[in-house]
Amino acid sequence: MIVAKPMRDFALEVHFSKWEFKARYNLTGSDAESMTISKLLAFATDDERSAFENLHLGYTETFGSPALREAIAGTYDTIGAEDVLCFAGAGEGIFVAMQVLLRAGDHAVVITPNYQSAETVPLTICEVSGVALDESNGWSLDVDRIGAAIRPSTRLVSINFPNNPTGAIPTQETMNALLDLCRENDLWLFSDEVYRGLETDPSRRVQQIADSYEKGLSLNVMSKAYGLPGLRIGWIACRDRELLARMERYKHYLSICNSGPSELLATIALKSRKAILERNVALIRKNIVAARHFFDAHRDLFEFEAPDGGCVCFVKYKGADGVEEFTRRLVEEAGVLLLPSSLYRSEVGDVPQDYFRLGLGRTLVSQALNAMQNFMRKSGQ
Ligand SMILES: Cc1ncc(COP(=O)(O)O)c(C=O)c1O
Repeated sequence: MIVAKPMRDFALEVHFSKWEFKARYNLTGSDAESMTISKLLAFATDDERSAFENLHLGYTETFGSPALREAIAGTYDTIGAEDVLCFAGAGEGIFVAMQVLLRAGDHAVVITPNYQSAETVPLTICEVSGVALDESNGWSLDVDRIGAAIRPSTRLVSINFPNNPTGAIPTQETMNALLDLCRENDLWLFSDEVYRGLETDPSRRVQQIADSYEKGLSLNVMSKAYGLPGLRIGWIACRDRELLARMERYKHYLSICNSGPSELLATIALKSRKAILERNVALIRKNIVAARHFFDAHRDLFEFEAPDGGCVCFVKYKGADGVEEFTRRLVEEAGVLLLPSSLYRSEVGDVPQDYFRLGLGRTLVSQALNAMQNFMRKSGQ
């Protein structure tokens, strides 16, 4: 008999509960710099501004407001508003999709390292195998390894690109090979695309899964690429309407519906998504230059590779004290928050334990690197 595991603590979120609002410099944030409501409303038309001020604060439609679903559909090539179900953030989308798609006796394949709920939620339901991204080859995805993990009971493959924490993106060719594999084996492909749009080289952007696969689920959210996590608006796009309807019924037990003001603000942001994404990519590019400058000066201690996309990357730490001790002292003594790779420990595979996650989406990156520099000078590093 297969016994599902109890849900273990979400290591990264537990660490963030302790430090995110206490540390002076969050140098590990996975979201692009946010903005105020008034800055966002500067993108709105007069009618939208008036609609926001006069909004009736009742419940909204469980699927999401028609205008929001329409705006979301506009971010895909083939998806219509009816193919979109909204959630309270991406986290709720992961939870609901796994509950609806998986049953005891099924098997799921997830990549590692991962955003922990990608493996912890399915592990509470069924068996899960991890497939490691190849550390020695720029955290690349090896589709043959996914193929080798597939069993007769496999029902789902779960991926996340641009990847948290490594910032890796496979080529479109690799993604096509993965699609072929899923099609041949009749598998659901759950694709967490929350960092899409933040590729520093736009030619690295890969197609969204819901556009290219009939059993594909594309997860996205306002939190990351758009830098608006406070809205708590996420969604899943999928061409299987029956599946969407089942997920909608599951959502009745959770958030029921989104926040009305957030739906309106998200709709406004999505209509101006080009300008918002350009602003965020420009900031990431600037921060990559600052980070490269810093890490080049400390090659004995760090190995830094800029992300292919997204706000985060995994930096290798080579100091004799070890990354746990280094990141602990850095936050306690200098107020600079990083995430050691122990927080990415996986129950379904080995994750190298000598890395930390660096965030490159915020305006404070240069300041935080200066604080890190001072800390290292004082520590004689
Ligand atoms: C890959 C990935 N998926 C999902 C989420 C959850 O996003 P949200 O905070 O919008 O629920 C995160 C948050 O860090 C993430 O990095």
